[in-house]
Amino acid sequence: VRVQYYTATSLDGYIADEDDNLDWLTRYAPPDPPPDLKRDTSSYDEFYAGIGAMIMGSTTYEWVLAHVDSWPYPDKPTWVLSSRDLPSPEGDADVRIVAAEVADLREELTAAAGERNLWIVGGGPVVSQFAAAGLLDDVIVTVVPVALGAGKQLFAERLPGGPMRLVEARPSPTGMVELRYEVVRGAHRPV
Ligand SMILES: NC(=O)c1ccc[n+]([C@@H]2O[C@H](COP(=O)([O-])OP(=O)(O)OC[C@H]3O[C@@H](n4cnc5c(N)ncnc54)[C@H](OP(=O)(O)O)[C@@H]3O)[C@@H](O)[C@H]2O)c1
Repeated sequence: VRVQYYTATSLDGYIADEDDNLDWLTRYAPPDPPPDLKRDTSSYDEFYAGIGAMIMGSTTYEWVLAHVDSWPYPDKPTWVLSSRDLPSPEGDADVRIVAAEVADLREELTAAAGERNLWIVGGGPVVSQFAAAGLLDDVIVTVVPVALGAGKQLFAERLPGGPMRLVEARPSPTGMVELRYEVVRGAHRPV
């Protein structure tokens, strides 16, 4: 099981604006769309097929409940981190709302993922808890060429360890670039 943070980010490192608005992403369109725009090289389908379980913070969860008609991940067991008593999605969904240390969830998350991987959907506070516990393996970010100036950060804290190792960079005709990094643990941190 690889623990993978897969998300889109603005060029200046935000995954949502200050009001949790994602219009900059969901309505993203380059000003001069290339003719082969429809052949976008997004890896989402391939990535999602490799996922066995998911985890997200409560802000991300509430965004999905408010903006997506039906629960979009019915086939994946999902953990939502929250100290609050949040509603479950309507319809077909396997969602557990828990308040816990991520290290204490490791065994059940790994068991649920089976032969596949664990998707950290977001946000920064959740991925940073995994990184601090030494449990983050991959960072796969699609950089969207917009600058928001402020918002919800891609990471909430400095990533421990050395610089990440670039595995692949996939540019898209839309101007977005998917960057796939592996976390390097225990390496000397450059000063
Ligand atoms: N660009 C993208 O592709 C993308 C991807 C994912 C998310 N997003 C967006 O980015 C924003 C992220 O919001 P965010 O930064 O506030 O982060 P978040 O991680 O979604 O939510 C953080 C909240 O989760 C709860 N939480 C986190 N860890 C916990 C733990 N160990 N135990 C109990 N509760 C815990 C806390 O709230 P409570 O305890 O108060 O519930 C905390 O304030 C959202 O708007 C989301 O829609 C964008």
